[in-house]
Amino acid sequence: MKILAINGSYRRGGIMDQAVEAAAAAARAGGAEVETVLLTEKRVEFCTNCRACTQAPGGERGACPIADDMSGILDAAEAAGGLILAAPVNCFNVSAVYRRFMERGTPYAYWPWGAAAPAFRIKAGGKKAVLITSSAMPSFFGRLFTGALRALKLTATTLGAKVAGTLFIGLSSLEEKPRLAARDRRLAEALGRKLL
Ligand SMILES: Cc1cc2nc3c(=O)[nH]c(=O)nc-3n(C[C@H](O)[C@H](O)[C@H](O)COP(=O)(O)O)c2cc1C
Repeated sequence: MKILAINGSYRRGGIMDQAVEAAAAAARAGGAEVETVLLTEKRVEFCTNCRACTQAPGGERGACPIADDMSGILDAAEAAGGLILAAPVNCFNVSAVYRRFMERGTPYAYWPWGAAAPAFRIKAGGKKAVLITSSAMPSFFGRLFTGALRALKLTATTLGAKVAGTLFIGLSSLEEKPRLAARDRRLAEALGRKLL
């Protein structure tokens, strides 16, 4: 089974990298092949709102005219049987690099000119997604007062995946080089196994 992890953290070795790697390692231990996309290392341009990709009807993603790394990421997401979607909380929501990636999911919307709102092209099937985020504030407040999990869930829905579990890691900014707590590591590993 193939699993794709998409990580919107800005720094290597931080909490998100450690949590994503823990989930990926558990999935690998169960026999999965896991590929990780670090969004900061990919060329993903901003959506220009041309809406060319939303005009034609059908259940296939529309064609985006921007030539960058996005179509390769989406091909890999479609080919995967499971997704790990991860981004830290920045300014009460997912990081800007993750948000930019999210906006480029517009080809999965059918939204012709004249329609007031978009419709998702892909209905959730057998694909599962697990969502991971982290914040300086305690996770209890993070779940209540940030939009991070909602944003990650929207990506899962866009990609036709059902959310199988979430992990919100709080108090992750107390040290310059934070280490993933043992409990959060176990929770991340459990998420990785849920994808199998
Ligand atoms: C620009 C920026 C904005 C942030 N905004 C918030 C915030 O609104 N709320 C919060 O609790 N933590 C906030 N944080 C803290 C990060 O969520 C936290 O450090 C996270 O664990 C970073 O993930 P990383 O270790 O993978 O880099 C912010 C950090 C940065 C750099």
